[in-house]
Amino acid sequence: MAFNSENNLLQQYQYLIGISRDLASTLDLDSLLSKIVSVAAEMSGAEAASILLLDESSQQLYFQAATNIEVLPAMHGMVIPRDSSLAGWVIKNRTPVIANDVENDRRHYPNVDQETGFATRSLMGIPLMAKDEIIGVLETINKREGGFSQPDQDIITILGAQAAIAIQNTRMFHQSDLIAEMVHELRTPLSSLSAVAGLLARPDLSEDQRIKLVHTLHTEVQRLNSMTTSFLDLARLESGRMVFHKSIFPVQPLIEECLNLYESQAAEHAISTKIDIPPDLPRIEADRDELKQVLLNLISNAVKYNRPGGSILLRTGTNEKELFIAVEDNGSGIPEEEIPHLFEKFFRASGTKKIAPGTGLGLSICAKVIAAHRGRITVTSHPGQGSTFTVYLPLKPAP
Ligand SMILES: Nc1ncnc2c1ncn2[C@@H]1O[C@H](COP(=O)(O)OP(=O)(O)OP(=O)(O)O)[C@@H](O)[C@H]1O
Ligand SMILES: [Mg+2]
Repeated sequence: MAFNSENNLLQQYQYLIGISRDLASTLDLDSLLSKIVSVAAEMSGAEAASILLLDESSQQLYFQAATNIEVLPAMHGMVIPRDSSLAGWVIKNRTPVIANDVENDRRHYPNVDQETGFATRSLMGIPLMAKDEIIGVLETINKREGGFSQPDQDIITILGAQAAIAIQNTRMFHQSDLIAEMVHELRTPLSSLSAVAGLLARPDLSEDQRIKLVHTLHTEVQRLNSMTTSFLDLARLESGRMVFHKSIFPVQPLIEECLNLYESQAAEHAISTKIDIPPDLPRIEADRDELKQVLLNLISNAVKYNRPGGSILLRTGTNEKELFIAVEDNGSGIPEEEIPHLFEKFFRASGTKKIAPGTGLGLSICAKVIAAHRGRITVTSHPGQGSTFTVYLPLKPAP
């Protein structure tokens, strides 16, 4: 539906009611946000629209969605200063803003245009409020004809109110879903801790038995600890609250760092490790800590699901558009029919539980982190022969 001066207000409001039903039933945050921005651009007669969200813990304001994010991927996750931007002004004052001449508006933050190559002429910003809390800003950019007007502001304010509720709903939905699964997963280590504690209380224990039990206690506590870290990571990734801190860095030191951390665990099982990196490998732009988490999980899997005397090879290279990092092992392998499920939360391949402990969250976290970098992960595996997990990252993240 195209909106112009001839469309009366009633039609616009009727259209919005239809939209808000659709928004309320969309539970995937990314598709919800992309619907909101496209409706906002359409209803306000703007060239583009975007959503900035406020990170709950860091309080940073960052781009989470935009109608033109496909062509301007550099925008995704870009952090905007709250004290020198129109969006920041909206957050601070909790009121809408119309700036029909941004070039001469001192509140405008020109770096986004510089970094994305998209020229902003006019901008309207609407605060996204859920109850009394401000969660972000809905922006419409470049009115096609004339400037943004009060009626535009009124209609997008209503859309913004619906959008904010829908965003909170998806967050809560995913949290409650995840919480139920997490609590379920916590039961096993908790019950073994309770069993160990019960045994430790027995007076007839030998010193040897006591030492063994304390050791078990220690490993179970460590396992609980790493589970809670995974839970938190996943919850942040799923709710879209994760902020990535990108930098440009060489890959080789990162790979060496990761491998070092698993060297002794590999040696315990007589697993040999090897690195194969071409000398002219370009540097990569990514969140280094998050990429490290991804590699650590892939290496940890390659060690855990390997066999005594096995080997691991870390190989990197480039194709036309991407840099890849492959983690190859010659361990247990994964049955073909289970490969499509590997990146699902809590999924563990059959027979794995007997080989090594794990929560089945590592790969789902990896997939989300890599997707947020606009990359991909592929798997090839042959039962009994081994597996290769390959991470591909775009060589040119910014246009
Ligand atoms: N290199 C590999 N070789 C064989 N199976 C693998 C390999 N990597 C992953 N898998 C299978 O995929 C499952 C999911 O892996 P994922 O890393 O998500 O979870 P996990 O290792 O079980 O637990 P954690 O959350 O501690 O990482 C594993 O349980 C295992 O069955
Ligand atoms: Mg794992």
